[in-house]
Amino acid sequence: MQSANMNVMIKAARKAGRSLVKDFREVENLQVSVKGAGDFVSRADRESERIIKEELRGARPTYGWLGEETGEEKGEDPTRRWIVDPLDGTTNFLHGLPHWAVSIALEHKGEIVAGVIFDAAKDELYHAEKGNGAWMNGQRLRVSGRRQLIESIFATGIPFAGRGTLPASLQDLARLSPQTAGIRRFGSAALDLAYVAAGRYDGYWERGVNAWDVAAGIVLIKEAGGFAEAIRGEGPVVDAGNIVCANAALFGDLAGIIRTRD
Ligand code: IPD
Ligand code: CA
Ligand code: CA
Ligand code: CA
Repeated sequence: MQSANMNVMIKAARKAGRSLVKDFREVENLQVSVKGAGDFVSRADRESERIIKEELRGARPTYGWLGEETGEEKGEDPTRRWIVDPLDGTTNFLHGLPHWAVSIALEHKGEIVAGVIFDAAKDELYHAEKGNGAWMNGQRLRVSGRRQLIESIFATGIPFAGRGTLPASLQDLARLSPQTAGIRRFGSAALDLAYVAAGRYDGYWERGVNAWDVAAGIVLIKEAGGFAEAIRGEGPVVDAGNIVCANAALFGDLAGIIRTRD
């Protein structure tokens, strides 16, 4: 049974997805501003966040909020918080590449208990709740069954212009790629995580992520039978700023390589 909160999350994701699909059709007319080197935001991102916030805060006015475009707002209920990326994969979106998503998570007492990732361009809706499995369009998800690195493909994000984690990410690639069947960089962290949950990728790692990029994906992967941990750092993986995840058989090998530093 889907919880009432999950119904609220799915409704918000679909509504935001409809608005994004409309903007995507006329993407050349969108106003774009630059947040930093290689880091863009458009009216589509802001409008999507506005829609999601209206839906979620309308339904659950006491919960806190963390959204990429509007930041953090404390709620009357200090134990619950929405964590939202209104458009993950903005650079793809602005280039007309149909690989981007809405990501909505619910955190309770520091743990992610529910997540929705909606790939509106492909009409693929992923959702998971703690203890209730991970699903995509009504189909149960399982992480892949591959056991050897050399048979496996891994996704990552290569930091864009000016991010300090670039040297470490290039070292990861140099170490890992000769041992695998391939590395992918599709440009949406939320979908990278959803694809690990769906068994399309065997694992994913990235240095320099934010809570809104990974929150929903973390519960999807756990509920699909995989592992998601911080590359480095104590405390919950969602706040670590870096992440490594894979199916249970490959996690040790992948994390071992990514965690090795000289
Ligand atoms: C970005 C994408 C990208 C990842 C970056 C994120 P945005 O999110 O997920 O794949 O490599 O770390 O910041 O800015 O498009 O929401
Ligand atoms: Ca962004
Ligand atoms: Ca993002
Ligand atoms: Ca975003």
